[in-house]
Amino acid sequence: MRHPKPLAEIVSTGRYVPSNVVTNDDLAARMDTSDEWIRTRTGIRARRIAPDQEGAAHMGAAAARIALERARVDPGEVDILVLSTATPDRWLPSTACDVQALLGCTNAVAFDIMAACSGFIYGLSMAEGYLAAGRGEVALVVSTEKMSSIVDWNDRSTCVLFGDGAGAAVVKPSNGSGRGILSSHLRSDGNLAQLLWRPAGGALTPLTADVLAKGDHFVRMAGREVFKNAVRSMAEASHAALHDAGLTAADVDLLVPHQANLRIIDATAKYAGIPPEKVFINLDRYGNMSSASIPVALDEAREQGLIGQGANVLTAAFGAGLTWGAMAWRF
Ligand code: COA
Repeated sequence: MRHPKPLAEIVSTGRYVPSNVVTNDDLAARMDTSDEWIRTRTGIRARRIAPDQEGAAHMGAAAARIALERARVDPGEVDILVLSTATPDRWLPSTACDVQALLGCTNAVAFDIMAACSGFIYGLSMAEGYLAAGRGEVALVVSTEKMSSIVDWNDRSTCVLFGDGAGAAVVKPSNGSGRGILSSHLRSDGNLAQLLWRPAGGALTPLTADVLAKGDHFVRMAGREVFKNAVRSMAEASHAALHDAGLTAADVDLLVPHQANLRIIDATAKYAGIPPEKVFINLDRYGNMSSASIPVALDEAREQGLIGQGANVLTAAFGAGLTWGAMAWRF
């Protein structure tokens, strides 16, 4: 959606990844796979895996603390805390409420959204709308994923793709300087839910001994179909977001895409007309951290000085739902 002027801006970011690095060779020692297969098919070399005692809330709070400190915002000043996760620590209450408690964001309305890998840009869009409606001055968007807890470690075609981590952003109303969210183009298609899903374990098919034995509570994915949809959707969304922002590919200083697969990223960049040197990539070190991928990448890109003042940044995401979208930002 096009805005005549930005309504909200990201004022700071933060990230947290667990310290435990698991390489492709580590996986190859445990299952029938190889560094060569994983690297050439996906671009992934390693991922972080959280220990048992470290859940989604712990990681999300750690990322959020850094973002809050950098923005010089006290936890009590946060008006809305939107948290995206596909891996809540438990089903009730929300992980957002756990993060709220860990941080001391006592004045915030806190809730989870579930948009899989697109969760960060969905969350940002909700925060933007809340702030634009005048309902608050400070939003905290947190994306935190313990993917290692929901993949089937006996399914080599999915488990090698994912990793754990969290990213966060503090969002405030734009101050008229032109910085902020220039456009957002978000979409979903529930008809394609079964391409990437957890078939059982919810209200319709509760956990039973049979479900557990079959592993139907784990992530199941039709890899090739997801791949094709991801390329098409991210390319289309990128075009739309650029168009709505009044930008061309040449105006983009950095593309910070969802980090699922290097070949998907390359295709998205190619269709969007953005050269490889303007594409930020960290999936070689982290794998796919679902909705945490974009904020972690954004935080690393800022830390590396790749996003200067006035930089135009494009992001594009894709995930289960199916959900997808793109956003253009000016920093
Ligand atoms: N190690 C070694 N071999 C593996 C393997 C692994 N980890 N996983 C699968 N294989 C095998 C398969 O069993 C198959 O063997 P077969 O030909 O004997 O049946 C072979 O490799 C090829 O599998 P295929 O599915 O055709 O590979 P692919 O080129 O489509 O790549 C993905 C598979 C998963 C890497 C690719 O489809 C993909 O990245 N899809 C998108 C997934 C994604 O990003 N999802 C998240 C979106 S947010």
